[in-house]
Amino acid sequence: MSSKLGRNDMCWCKSGKKYKYCHENFDSKIDHFRRLGAEVPTHNMIKTPEQIAKIKESAKINIEILDYVAAHIKAGITTEEIDQWVYDITTKHGAIPAPLNYEGFPKSVCTSINEEVCHGIPSSDVVLKEGDIINVDASTILDGYFSDSSRMFCIGNVSPEKQRLVDIAKESLQVGLKEVKPWGYLGDMGQAINDFAKENGYSVVREIGGHGVGIEFHEDPWVSYVSRRGTEMIMAPGMMFTIEPMINMGKAPIYTDKDNGWTVRTKDGLPSAQWEIQILITDDGYEIISY
Ligand code: MF3
Ligand code: CO
Repeated sequence: MSSKLGRNDMCWCKSGKKYKYCHENFDSKIDHFRRLGAEVPTHNMIKTPEQIAKIKESAKINIEILDYVAAHIKAGITTEEIDQWVYDITTKHGAIPAPLNYEGFPKSVCTSINEEVCHGIPSSDVVLKEGDIINVDASTILDGYFSDSSRMFCIGNVSPEKQRLVDIAKESLQVGLKEVKPWGYLGDMGQAINDFAKENGYSVVREIGGHGVGIEFHEDPWVSYVSRRGTEMIMAPGMMFTIEPMINMGKAPIYTDKDNGWTVRTKDGLPSAQWEIQILITDDGYEIISY
């Protein structure tokens, strides 16, 4: 692919710069890692500055949504009300809630309580009560550009056990981020998160991971948090993906609700917690795009 481009040709990234002043060095690094047998990103996973600017506009709305939820969530409200907040804030900005009608998902946001791992469906039947922990997972499409992040919320006083799970799940992102650098392996991050969860007596969901995001809701690569150091795709500048490990208080196995086809729960019925951020790999580290 890269060999077809002359050094004085325009770069494939559409920067308008000559290849030799733009991604030539990038491509030789990619070739280097490919020769080592590593999995490497394709050019279409590399976001341009214009795309990044658009995705950041989308993320502003996503962050506003979660800030609003943080300020208003409390015992007594229903998850249907959260869905309404998300829909209203999103559409007020001329944006679209990415979950709505996504593969048939019926609502604008995912709300997953206690033993629900992810993809919980908002409902007027579900009333938040003191002691619940809930993940609110928001995703926004603005002008075709996607943002995706989620946070945990503790309703009133929660048990110390649940509080610790929520805190460790949040801290696991920082532990993972320490391993995020250009030309590192995604597996370095995955193993760091898995090790940290295990050290704390928890387990990490294996079947569901993070994903590339920005131009589509779910792009390559798939991002595991039970992977091994020195494996999985190389992180190259311009890649954008989520870090969103699901940390279980008990064992890792999960199942999907047969009746609604969406809600994922822990098999052992113990609580699960997840925080999600969307990040960009930069030339010297990373940037958090949505949180
Ligand atoms: N926001 C979720 C993610 O992190 C995806 C939810 S898909 C939905 O990938 F349809 F359930 F919304
Ligand atoms: Co996601």
